[in-house]
Amino acid sequence: MKPDEILKQIAQEVSVCQKCQLHYGRKHAVPGEGPANAKIMFIGEGPGFYENEQGRPFVGAAGKFLEELLAGIGMKREQVFIGNVVKCRPPGNRDPLPEEIGSCANYLDRQIAAINPQVIVTLGRYSMAKFLPNAKISSVHGQSFQVNGRLIVPMYHPAAALHQPSLKADVERDFARLPELISKNAEAPALPEAQEPEETKPPAEEKPQPKQLSLF
Ligand code: URA
Ligand code: SF4
Repeated sequence: MKPDEILKQIAQEVSVCQKCQLHYGRKHAVPGEGPANAKIMFIGEGPGFYENEQGRPFVGAAGKFLEELLAGIGMKREQVFIGNVVKCRPPGNRDPLPEEIGSCANYLDRQIAAINPQVIVTLGRYSMAKFLPNAKISSVHGQSFQVNGRLIVPMYHPAAALHQPSLKADVERDFARLPELISKNAEAPALPEAQEPEETKPPAEEKPQPKQLSLF
């Protein structure tokens, strides 16, 4: 399958996925969006209220800020892939649980493999932890790390930055350095061609969750 077909296939699987309890509160799954050949991929935490309503990532206040940050480096959101570690909204916008992130990881891994981006910008702690499990965001934000042959740049989550002026300044500074990081990385040896993930078939039917949580 071609990368854009793989992304469509993943979006289809996500829309009916029941691998974790987050599917109970789902109005629309948010698989992520952007070109299959995007050079930069942004990975947030999970859908919030508006994302769950619309089935699109970063369409609320944090999304508006992300678009402003992109505009600051001369980019539009249509040029980058924007995704999340979990594809369904955690109730009340709570943090995603480790088991939810684990259940959803296969989709994100396959998206990364299909897109094969030059740079992955992680937004917030949960997507950073996927690549840099022991890092502290306050000390590593804005720096770049080679992880499995790919450049990872951890940044504060735009929603957190909107609420804390000092973090906002950090995110703006970190973003301003992105073009330089990307061009430096382009000089480095090319990454291997995008490979089709081994497992492209829909996952086997999971056992239904025994009971619905009262939270939903
Ligand atoms: N916050 C996220 O982490 N992801 C979204 O898609 C929207 C807000
Ligand atoms: Fe499936 Fe991910 Fe949604 Fe959980 S969050 S139901 S694993 S798509």
